[in-house]
Amino acid sequence: MSIGLTLSGRSRIAGVMGWPVAHSRSPRLHGYWLQEHGIDGAYVPLPVRPEQFTAALRALPMLGFAGVNVTVPHKEAALAAVDRSNPTARRIGAVNTIVVSTDGTLDGRNSDGFGFLENLRAGVAGWSPKAGPAVLLGAGGAARAIAVALLDSGAPEIRIVNRTVERAERLCRDIGGLLRIVSWTERASALAEAALLVNTTTLGMTGQLALELALDRLPTAAVVNDIVYSPLETPLLAAAKARGNPVVDGLGMLLHQARPGFAAWFGVEPIVTPELRRFVLDAAG
Ligand code: ATR
Repeated sequence: MSIGLTLSGRSRIAGVMGWPVAHSRSPRLHGYWLQEHGIDGAYVPLPVRPEQFTAALRALPMLGFAGVNVTVPHKEAALAAVDRSNPTARRIGAVNTIVVSTDGTLDGRNSDGFGFLENLRAGVAGWSPKAGPAVLLGAGGAARAIAVALLDSGAPEIRIVNRTVERAERLCRDIGGLLRIVSWTERASALAEAALLVNTTTLGMTGQLALELALDRLPTAAVVNDIVYSPLETPLLAAAKARGNPVVDGLGMLLHQARPGFAAWFGVEPIVTPELRRFVLDAAG
């Protein structure tokens, strides 16, 4: 599909603010849905320097924007800058979706956890967060969103495994609930009796260090997900698949987290399809 809608004077406009933003796949993703639904609208990349982020955000209502996604490094600053945020965004400590209200105020939300859950639901038939303990590798922004989503949907226990223990402790303090910290050196034994393993670190990403993790202790029924999607099949997913674990790649989280924003800005509930996946992946080439 080629993107080539003609805009009118009434176009709804949204975009993504990041620094840098050129690598973002969101314009292509939203562009696909706009085209698919024949919507008179646009979704544009907005390169915004950190020191100008708040000013740029405050300008959105004046420019008639319907809203924006916010990506690295602005997600935490966005929480502080919006007029309203929902409890999920506050618990995560970050906003990734902003909706400009009719009165011009900014409403901040976070759909990363939603995207994570929907990706697993779509990828593994009958998957439930209640199935058993989850192991999260990492304690960054993605881990925070995933931990909140899992806790709120009934995960009985979450084991946070992070290289820097202080960061894991901060995550547990901020989020509360049934979180347990396991040291990075003990990561292999953290997998015992787990129902879910998620890599939220950058390890295994193209150009980064490998994730070294022995999977022997992981039950073969445990679902394994990597939020890294470059490569799409990370060495972790390949190893898990080879021993019979159900695996879900990370691209779906990006696609599903985009749904609530698109629905709010453009008034249509979009769906994630294999064609959309292919279209977004093609951008990698
Ligand atoms: P995001 O906000 O997107 O989740 P991030 O904040 O950069 O990303 O977090 C990256 C995660 O990868 C962190 O958990 C980081 O561990 P530290 O908190 O110890 O920095 C983890 N990570 C990055 N490089 C790593 C490495 N070489 N070994 C182990 N963990 C690593």
